[in-house]
Amino acid sequence: MTVPKLPDGFAWGVATASYQIEGAVAEDGRAPSIWDTFTHTPGRIADGRNGDVACDHYHRYAEDVALMADVGVTHYRFSLAWPRIQPTGVGPLNQAGIDFYARLVEALLARGIQPWVTLYHWDLPQALEDVGGWPSRDTAYRFADYAVATYERLKDRVASWTTLNEPWCSAFLGYGNGQHAPGVQDERKALHAAHHLLLGHGLAVSAMRAAGAADQQIGITLNLWPVTPVSDSPVDTDAVRRVDGINNRFFLDPVLRGSYPADVLDDVAKITDTDHIQSGDEQAIAAPVDFLGVNYYNPNYVRGGASRAAGGRAWIGCDDVEAVPQGFPVTDMGWEVEPDGLRRLLVRLHHDYPGLPIYVTENGMAARDTIDADGRVDDPDRIAYIDAHLRAGAQAIAEGVDLRGYFVWTLTDNFEWSWGFSKRFGLVYLDNETQERIPKTSAVWFASLARTNELPDG
Ligand code: FCB
Repeated sequence: MTVPKLPDGFAWGVATASYQIEGAVAEDGRAPSIWDTFTHTPGRIADGRNGDVACDHYHRYAEDVALMADVGVTHYRFSLAWPRIQPTGVGPLNQAGIDFYARLVEALLARGIQPWVTLYHWDLPQALEDVGGWPSRDTAYRFADYAVATYERLKDRVASWTTLNEPWCSAFLGYGNGQHAPGVQDERKALHAAHHLLLGHGLAVSAMRAAGAADQQIGITLNLWPVTPVSDSPVDTDAVRRVDGINNRFFLDPVLRGSYPADVLDDVAKITDTDHIQSGDEQAIAAPVDFLGVNYYNPNYVRGGASRAAGGRAWIGCDDVEAVPQGFPVTDMGWEVEPDGLRRLLVRLHHDYPGLPIYVTENGMAARDTIDADGRVDDPDRIAYIDAHLRAGAQAIAEGVDLRGYFVWTLTDNFEWSWGFSKRFGLVYLDNETQERIPKTSAVWFASLARTNELPDG
């Protein structure tokens, strides 16, 4: 059997997010974000912790860049903290915030690692939430202003830009089921938030292009699922249509086809009319992008006709649909593992939204990693997970998908949102007390993969 090989030039990366790793929340002019407020509200975070210190990456970024070099990555995907760069979400940029990211970018470039910047990974300045947050249309304009001003300052050193990470989570977990900051439970607001996030994306892309992006690439990262019915009954078939509609097509279609899916607007008509979608918005959202970032962790198998929504209010307009576990192995998040789901998802994107390079911008697993008597952290399940998903990616390429790279979530164990520090996703183990970083077995394994592009058996 031939050894699966990823193409020459394939991007090998790790991905992180500002609030999950930086700490230094009150340093050098950074103002609070919605995540500072949320994590300091009792009862919101599973282990009661917060991101005040996190991985102390703000001070230890040079050590983290050295770790990345050891892991052999060619690319590093990280996000900029809006409240570090523009503390209240309006007005002049905070030079100290820009300087931090400039130092980070220069450290990466010095090691030959390409910076892959995300402008927004969920840490909205609290001051903007106080005047309405994403359910307010004005936030879209504020985002575009922040995006282009930041782009102007770093574009000479950063070639790859992503507007948003997972607007589904910002909108539907932030304002739908309230699991994420700002913790609002209001499906109408969640739908309005989704639109304003997408509008902010489109306005930002156009503004950045106008500011001169000839040799730069701009894209968006969406969290997407392959959605499969548990039977071919009409009820289950319609459940798939609705879940795929609100979770996938509601984001893909306006960005890549220039209009919201009509069936989904019908599904949610009982929650909101479309008055918040103004004439010209869909055209603005469809500003051409250079790539699509896809975050994939687990599949969805669904059935309709349930009495109560098992998916909670994050699956908006799908109240009688429930997710049906398939008996696949689960990670420490309780997420089912199905690598072939990634292949199916990529092939579907290739067919339904053709012509766009795709990067897997997040994939990885949480495990209960521990330090053994020799001081080592052995994580064979994570190696198996990443290996299997990369094989699925290689298979998708063989089926015609233009997959250009893969970013592991994540470099070091970090602050996993509403789960606090109770979930470990890193290739590198983090001792939360001492901040010591210990590369796991998977880090060593990944380095050889990134060097050879090959997935040898065993
Ligand atoms: C994604 C997020 C990322 C991380 C992983 C596990 O939804 O983008 O920040 O929390 O899940």
